[in-house]
Amino acid sequence: MSQRSFLPVVLAAGLGTRMRSDLPKVMHPIGHLPLVGHVLKTLAASGAEEMAVVVGPDMEPLETLVKDLAPSASCHVQVDRLGTAHAALAARSVLEKSFDDILVLFGDTPLITPEAVGAVRNELAKGADVVVLGFETETPFGYGRLLTKNGKLVAIREEKDASDDERLVTLCNSGIMGFAGKAALELLDAIGNANAKGEYYLTDAVEIANERGLTVVAVVGNEEDVQGINTRVQLAQCEAVFQRRARHAVMETGVTLQAPETVFFAHDTVIDPDVTIEPNVVFAPGVKVESGAVIRAFSHLEGAHVGAGATVGPYARLRPGARLSDNAHIGNFVEIKNADVGAGAKVNHLSYIGDASVGAKSNIGAGTITCNYDGFGKHKTEIGAGSFVGSNSTLVAPLKLGSGVYVAAGSVVTDEVSDDALVIGRGRQVEKPGRAEELRQRFKAAKEAGSKQS
Ligand code: UD1
Ligand code: CA
Repeated sequence: MSQRSFLPVVLAAGLGTRMRSDLPKVMHPIGHLPLVGHVLKTLAASGAEEMAVVVGPDMEPLETLVKDLAPSASCHVQVDRLGTAHAALAARSVLEKSFDDILVLFGDTPLITPEAVGAVRNELAKGADVVVLGFETETPFGYGRLLTKNGKLVAIREEKDASDDERLVTLCNSGIMGFAGKAALELLDAIGNANAKGEYYLTDAVEIANERGLTVVAVVGNEEDVQGINTRVQLAQCEAVFQRRARHAVMETGVTLQAPETVFFAHDTVIDPDVTIEPNVVFAPGVKVESGAVIRAFSHLEGAHVGAGATVGPYARLRPGARLSDNAHIGNFVEIKNADVGAGAKVNHLSYIGDASVGAKSNIGAGTITCNYDGFGKHKTEIGAGSFVGSNSTLVAPLKLGSGVYVAAGSVVTDEVSDDALVIGRGRQVEKPGRAEELRQRFKAAKEAGSKQS
């Protein structure tokens, strides 16, 4: 099969009006990746080299995404959205090349697997001219129904065109269709638009192929893999499936999830074996966690690298560019952004460390803040190895603290500090013996004098 040349055509131009959104439907994300991105990833994993994506006019962000995710893909603009067959024909320039197999997929069907793609290609390899990937469902509403006679697929009927009897059919069209390359263009060109929606339906290729005596085959896939998204409710259902699969996959590779259903992953989260993740943790894109690390409850991580054996949380926030070396400790109510935290360093309580580097084994006391922003630019704070920053210190960037430095608690540090120095940046403590009692007497007398007058 791998010898056969293969062109996937992904239809992504539809607006998806039932989403009630200004964003093109296929740009809505699950696992923080737009729907169409999931389809492109699956196709790449299925060995597709060339791909065609049909986009709408004014969908530059979609074209940019396609170029990022699949540099070899070509984008084709469907100017008027006249239906799925019309959309496929927007890619005519590549359909004209002589691919052995052509697969049409929908950008709004993100959970499709390489196995399902393989099943369709397999039938083409065995000689079918048209292959439809169908699925059985208890909730067929909205899907095209596969009409069969004596076990043979004779037509696909869209919801709006179906008779009451046809609507009872529970075998539905996933939208994924395979075509023998030599038959594809002729079939697509023969499709008309005489139906309830006045659209050119890709699904009509089945009836036309049958009339021409071509071989039409239906393969039945898994409902979960092929569910399409037309509404926000369906978007949430697919997100749930994506998350369930992601949780299952990380546990299979040796990660402990104490309460899997409360942990949320992004499409690109990488967690090494022997990491433990406590309940209620959210991974936004760009996170890698190395072996032996513990992510404690209620933490949010994005664009962060967590080194081996590090601990994060509970209630920690790692923002983009947070890089924790091995065995670093980030504790409760700590925010780290664009900062390197060295091996074994600790930032355990109530701190903001941004645009900074913290040397190995340094200890950053509770309430320490890097003042990295002056309203215009961001500035860097560098802290050497083995330093100790006392609680509630304010580090005003740009700032360099050497290694082995001691910062007295409550300091405001504005100037460079050399290695092994003690720095105290606060008012001196002054003690006035007996003065408190004197003040109390004075205030009491004043209050009594005031109440006699009134
Ligand atoms: C389609 C199928 C239906 C199937 C269902 C599976 C047709 C006629 N119907 O219905 O049989 O059960 O998917 O989810 O094919 N698109 C374009 N240009 C267009 C129209 C659509 O690019 O002019 C794209 C959309 O962006 C979307 C995909 O094609 O990604 C499917 O379109 P949609 O309107 O969602 O079709 P359904 O009504 O769901
Ligand atoms: Ca759809």
